[in-house]
Amino acid sequence: MNTIDLRSDTLTQPTEDMRKAMAEAEVGDDVFSEDPTVNRLEKSAADHMGKEAAVFVPSGTMGNLISMLSHCNRGDEVILGDQSHIFLNEVAGIAALGGIHPHTVLNQPDGTLDLETVEKKIRASDLHYPPTRLLALENTHNYCMGSPIQPEYMQKASALAKRYNLKVHVDGARIFNAAVALEVNVKDLVTDADSVMFCLSKGLSAPVGSLVCGNKEFINKARKLRKMVGGGMRQSGHLAAAGIIALNDLVKTLKKDHSNAQVLAKGLASLKGIDLDPKLIKTNIIFFRIKHPKVDADIFLKKLEDQGIKILAIQPGIFRAVLHREISESQVERVIRVSEEITN
Ligand SMILES: Cc1ncc(COP(=O)(O)O)c(C=O)c1O
Repeated sequence: MNTIDLRSDTLTQPTEDMRKAMAEAEVGDDVFSEDPTVNRLEKSAADHMGKEAAVFVPSGTMGNLISMLSHCNRGDEVILGDQSHIFLNEVAGIAALGGIHPHTVLNQPDGTLDLETVEKKIRASDLHYPPTRLLALENTHNYCMGSPIQPEYMQKASALAKRYNLKVHVDGARIFNAAVALEVNVKDLVTDADSVMFCLSKGLSAPVGSLVCGNKEFINKARKLRKMVGGGMRQSGHLAAAGIIALNDLVKTLKKDHSNAQVLAKGLASLKGIDLDPKLIKTNIIFFRIKHPKVDADIFLKKLEDQGIKILAIQPGIFRAVLHREISESQVERVIRVSEEITN
């Protein structure tokens, strides 16, 4: 029985082209900025995002961390969503390592932050308050149903931040999913942002790596901080080679993941005891609840696993399924069929 693993798009394996490119990559010592393949990837990433420069980092978490450390001093404050990955899932690195105070605003169901609320949260200059330095947004928003956030919102949020001299960082781990779903150029989502981090190792299928993009001064600082937190890599061109293919060839595969997500969401929503509104699904991430009179969440998960289907229990009774390149349409049909058998 073939496993159908929907726990995350990070599970994607490198493509054959990537494996070949990795094996044959021309490499050097990247800490000396002498790895031609890393240099090529960084240039391509900066061009994609419409920024001056970029730095290659081992993970999205490190990319977010060094971005925030670059923007903020110890004791500064960042405004970010209460459902953001940075706040919930990055081990409080910004607080533990950077002394940065997270000031949360409730995420709206579509992943945005209400901008009037954000404005109220920006601190006045007062002896008692930390300086608010940064606004961090997430696009697509993982825990808000993978919502893609419109360029107009991103621009309005950035304009508000600028009025108060705040910097703007975008956690764009899946920003190419947003661009594909909204049918916009990815640059349009970060035009006024000071920094953006995006991942190669999720739906884009590269084995490792993320990029941080911004102006030259910011990237010089971020590069130094990358070294400080142990992210200076040597012949990382072997990894960057896969990243170049991810950027050039894999973005176009995301559309299929989104249409498979639609099919799965509609199929699951039609079943008894599954609570899911397919209209909320716009990219490759689905969240749903089990509210079945006889089948509780543990039984549902276990019975799926017995049939070789893996999904992620995010909270008691709440599940996440993520579509990616290695999940075919017929596998999606099978997940719906098995779920129907379990919940019948
Ligand atoms: C929105 C978001 N930001 C950042 C990250 C962190 O990426 P990494 O797992 O490469 O550290 C993730 C990972 O899933 C994510 O979903």
